[in-house]
Amino acid sequence: MDSILVTGNGPLNGDIPIAGAKNACLTLMPATLLSDEPLTLTNAPRLSDIKTMTALLQSLGAEVQSLQGGQVLAMSSHDLNNLHADYDIVRKMRASILVLGPMLARAGQAVVSLPGGCAIGARPVDLHLKALEAMGAELELRDGYVHAKAPSGLKGAVVDFPFASVGATENALMAATLAKGTTVIKNAAREPEIVDLAECLRAMGAQIEGEGTSQITIQGVDRLGGATHRVVTDRIELGTYMLAPAICGGEVTCLGGKLSLVEAYVERLDAAGISVEETEKGLKVARRGDRVQAVDVVTEPFPGFPTDLQAQMMALLCTAEGTSNLEERIFENRFMHAPELIRMGADIEVQGGMARVRGVERLKGAPVMATDLRASVSLILAGLAAEGETVVSRVYHLDRGYEHVVRKLSAVGAQIERIKGE
Ligand code: UD1
Repeated sequence: MDSILVTGNGPLNGDIPIAGAKNACLTLMPATLLSDEPLTLTNAPRLSDIKTMTALLQSLGAEVQSLQGGQVLAMSSHDLNNLHADYDIVRKMRASILVLGPMLARAGQAVVSLPGGCAIGARPVDLHLKALEAMGAELELRDGYVHAKAPSGLKGAVVDFPFASVGATENALMAATLAKGTTVIKNAAREPEIVDLAECLRAMGAQIEGEGTSQITIQGVDRLGGATHRVVTDRIELGTYMLAPAICGGEVTCLGGKLSLVEAYVERLDAAGISVEETEKGLKVARRGDRVQAVDVVTEPFPGFPTDLQAQMMALLCTAEGTSNLEERIFENRFMHAPELIRMGADIEVQGGMARVRGVERLKGAPVMATDLRASVSLILAGLAAEGETVVSRVYHLDRGYEHVVRKLSAVGAQIERIKGE
């Protein structure tokens, strides 16, 4: 297994290009299942999660061609010859459940393995299933699989979520595009990835209004056509690299970054003493003083502070002046990076969904282990701020969501290398 060696360093300067959003791409790809005409995505990120979704779609009979080094995905679901999403692929990635709504809407039936839990929490899919049931689907859970049927097609319905689930909103939105009549999704998630999906579906011929607000209205159509769509910028990769100069000093521009993608996050960075300026090229980030100030953070659905940036923010706050309180409200077990940061000399106390971080002057390099995707990158960021060497193992987590980390951080002056494992 590969690991990453980071040596603490001084200021970082230069540009870091930000890729297309993993989470948007993972919901845009299954949208191909809604149409027999080609769907092409540009600005796709090169990640192992995208390869997993490619394998899943191919197993269903879709063609997926990776062009221009993986930045373009040319897909066609002309010949959907298998409506069974197998456990062996689905278990690798929870986003696999996003094939359920489109398959059911297009073919009237689907069998999809339940994705199961994951390290950061139980993460059930009950809201996805309730939304499809509201649209008339008959569902049965058998042998770890969801067996779904809608012999005479899905019907428009009011889908009222008890809370704004990103994945459940995406599944319901895709399914509703081909349902008969009008669907209203209430308490819909408002993430930029949902807006991106709605824009792509609209380019395919769907009738959608209200994306980006908590109520989305979809007028079902008989069929969807082909489209070419550019994947939105990855706000989580953006937020992650914005911390490189915040932690090390210097000035870095995250190319393609936009304030509208990370407003709540930038507000917290500003309070911590980090300046962020939107320029034509992207977001220019610099630390105002020698040390950041402690701030409190509460994770919330968009437009609130993203849970996917909580681990990275904790890495920053480990060396802040003062005590910071971080509250995780989206996932019940998302502080697994804390014990690893403590190994590097951080002073963190976790109690349930709260973490108290008392800033120390400097972290010390140590061997640490990545426990999930965002935790892995938080340890790399902490390593940049630490004295001496940090070796982050289990970097396959990192490969799920960050392309070319070593290349991107080295280009701005970081001392970082990948060490090949046996
Ligand atoms: C998506 C993102 C993930 C991000 C999360 C929250 C993708 C591929 N992943 O995940 O990176 O951290 O949004 O911003 O886009 N829940 C239920 N029942 C359900 C669905 C969700 O109880 O049917 C719970 C989950 O366990 C979790 C919370 O709702 O506690 C939020 O989950 P959700 O918004 O659905 O996240 P994902 O779509 O899984």
